[in-house]
Amino acid sequence: MFKWKELYSCNISKIDDQHKKLFEIGYKLSDLVRSKDDLDHYDEIIELINELTKYTIYHFETEEKLMEEYGFNGLEEHKKTHKAFVDKISQINISVIDEEQKRVMMEILVFIADWIEDHILKVDHMYKDFLNEKGVF
Ligand SMILES: [Fe+2]
Ligand SMILES: [Fe+2]
Repeated sequence: MFKWKELYSCNISKIDDQHKKLFEIGYKLSDLVRSKDDLDHYDEIIELINELTKYTIYHFETEEKLMEEYGFNGLEEHKKTHKAFVDKISQINISVIDEEQKRVMMEILVFIADWIEDHILKVDHMYKDFLNEKGVF
């Protein structure tokens, strides 16, 4: 989970760097959730979820600006999928995490990891060739 693969590349360095950063935050989260110590990692987990949410919003803005700048006609559909994901992660119920930390967090992480992979491969890759042809790398 949350391991970068070359097949994720959009062939645009800024976008690839941001995707890698998302994977990095996700990996830190999964590492923490899988840790075998008996310490309560609640505060760190909440902090990382906030970081992931903020960085995701920042990344989506970068993509949307780029697509807008070059007149990509899939922009509106793309924006909808971004918004649905932000709504979803903003609704993560922090009080439930406190009671059943590991189980709930693993479910959330699997959802996030699957979503990011699926989104990069199916949705982000729709602008890849278009932007590359416009000279954006
Ligand atoms: Fe993306
Ligand atoms: Fe995207």
